[in-house]
Amino acid sequence: MKKRIFSGVQPSGIPTIGNYIGAMKNFAELQDEYDCIYCIVNQHAITVQQDAQQLKALTRSLAALYIALGIDPQKATLFVQSEVPAHAQAAWIALCNINIGELERMTQYKDKAAKQESVSAGLLCYPPLMACDIALYNTHIVPVGEDQKQHIELTRDFILRFNKRYGKGTDILVLPEPYIAKSGARIMSLQEPTKKMSKSDSNPKAFVSLLDEPNVIRKKIKSAVTDSEGLVYYDKENKPGVSNLLVIFSAFSGKSIAELEELYKHSGYGTFKSDLAEAIVSVLEPIQVRYHELLHSPELDCILNEGAKRANEIANATLVKMNEAIGLVR
Ligand code: AMP
Ligand code: TRP
Repeated sequence: MKKRIFSGVQPSGIPTIGNYIGAMKNFAELQDEYDCIYCIVNQHAITVQQDAQQLKALTRSLAALYIALGIDPQKATLFVQSEVPAHAQAAWIALCNINIGELERMTQYKDKAAKQESVSAGLLCYPPLMACDIALYNTHIVPVGEDQKQHIELTRDFILRFNKRYGKGTDILVLPEPYIAKSGARIMSLQEPTKKMSKSDSNPKAFVSLLDEPNVIRKKIKSAVTDSEGLVYYDKENKPGVSNLLVIFSAFSGKSIAELEELYKHSGYGTFKSDLAEAIVSVLEPIQVRYHELLHSPELDCILNEGAKRANEIANATLVKMNEAIGLVR
């Protein structure tokens, strides 16, 4: 049997090249070797306030984008989290087996809470829901960016605890491993290269979205913050802007950072940036064409309906086992 992969992306904005390099680029590459299940985690998105119409539109848009990125519905399963009620049901069980202190220690929670005027209980309880997304599918591997490592560690702690408390010597839930790429797991903002690139950044110049038009991509890369040295080489500490652009260039061109340093050692930032922009455009343009074909197609609904059907079957079977182990039965 193939090993199971599970990952999710929030429909809280249009994915950026950070999401792409850190996670989504790997999704299609893994589907031949693994049984892949990919989720649009809309229940995670509502941990901060969302406009209903926009959430709906972004959910569909993200689904189309997954397929446009090469997810083959014959090989992988794609579904919307809220169409599988077992996630929220299992999350209650996880909440009752994870301590508040463990949740308060999560750095993503601390960062996001610091930016909100009022913090929802859901924001604090985000990781138990994520733990159940993973656990319900007997997941072995979770491909994510660096920022999710701590959440996966918490997921593992929960699963070990659940098995110990309720398993009577057998493992009810499968223990997953994170899969974090060696390069590109943390793409930085184009405007503040010491900060993570985020799709919800209030400054659109800080990121390139996967649906930005070619000329917008060119402009954003041109205005990316660098330094005054004028030399292209990797030095994360002293040249965070240029180093980030090198990582992005490497991901979009398939060339190593060393190769790129060699290629651009005699050119200024102007040529380097315009070649980088063209590399991004050449990858994203065909993806965007496919995306627009899919967005309003009935084909997309068929894929999501089938995906929800399969996801419900797998998730419900695990939920039954969890309920029985705990004694949530007559
Ligand atoms: P999110 O946008 O928070 O739903 O993230 C979806 C996936 O993209 C997760 O696996 C994240 O770890 C990954 N990701 C988000 N931002 C970045 C970034 N700036 N660099 C690399 N990976 C990222
Ligand atoms: N928390 C992840 C993020 O913000 C999204 C997510 C939710 C996820 N559930 C998941 C990722 C399960 C991997 C597996 O990026």
